Order: sequence, then structure tokens, then C-alpha cells
Amino acid sequence: MTKRRVITFGTFDVLHMGHINILKRAKKEGDYLIVGVSSDELNFSKKNRNPVYSYKHRKKLIKSIKYVDKVFKEKSLELKADYIKKYKADVLLMGDDWQGKFDHFKELCEVIYLPRTPSISTTEIIEIVKQRD
Ligand code: CTP
Repeated sequence: MTKRRVITFGTFDVLHMGHINILKRAKKEGDYLIVGVSSDELNFSKKNRNPVYSYKHRKKLIKSIKYVDKVFKEKSLELKADYIKKYKADVLLMGDDWQGKFDHFKELCEVIYLPRTPSISTTEIIEIVKQRD
């Protein structure tokens, strides 16, 4: 039987439980999990700050998670359709902070949004650490 391939995207900077939870739940939606990790440049353009950890480090961390089968660099938000096709994804899976925003990809693959883990984000962790100084 052919494997059901799930693709998801994110920066995954300052790895936290919200990231682990979504990757675990993403893997449960199929057999093979592909993760597009934002390049440092893409992260800057999305969040207007440099990531704490470089792409190289974030890639290494995500690759070492047991739910993840393949990691690649997401260079542009505009390339999602190309990545879905290139990696032959059957499912595009995103956190519900993106609810509805990727429905136009339903012509290429199934689109699933999962609820975010409450009360944790990279931005919040950075703010908490800053305030400790
Ligand atoms: N995510 C999640 N639950 C959280 C935080 C993130 O499910 N509490 C998911 C996002 O929905 C996304 C993936 O993890 O699918 C990567 O999110 P990312 O933007 O890298 O993490 P955030 O913590 O949301 O980062 P930031 O605060 O910088 O926006």
C-alpha cells in the first residue's frame, strides 16, 4: 500500500511543546511526515526578527524528532504549491492559527488544520526570557 504523505511548515525556533505536539499529531494523520522549516530570511520577513537558532540548528533539531521523516528548507511562503507537488504530499497540515488560509490547496491535496497547544509560543518564551534580565 502507498504511504500517506503529510507536509507541514513552520519556523520551529526555540523548540517547545507546541511544536512537538503538532508534529506528533501530524504524523498520526499519515505514514510519512515532511516538514518545511523556514529559512532565516523567510523567518525575518514573517516575524520581523532573526530567529534565535539558525536554520541549520533548527533543521537538525526537527530532523532528530522521531515523528519526522524528511526536512527541507522553506524559502518562500509563495512556494507552498510547488513544495506540495515536489514532495508528493497527500495532506497539508497546519496549526489553526492559519485556519482557512490554505483552503485553495484543496485542489492539490487534503488540507487539515489542528488546534494549537494553548499558552505557549516562541514569541512568548523570548519575551519571558528578556524580562528576566
Ligand atoms: N504551534 C502549535 N501550538 C503552539 C505553537 C505553535 O501547534 N502553541 C504550531 C503552529 O501552528 C505551526 C508550528 O507549530 O504549525 C510551527 O509554529 P511556529 O510559528 O514556528 O511557532 P510559534 O511558537 O507559533 O512561533 P511564534 O511565536 O514566533 O509565532
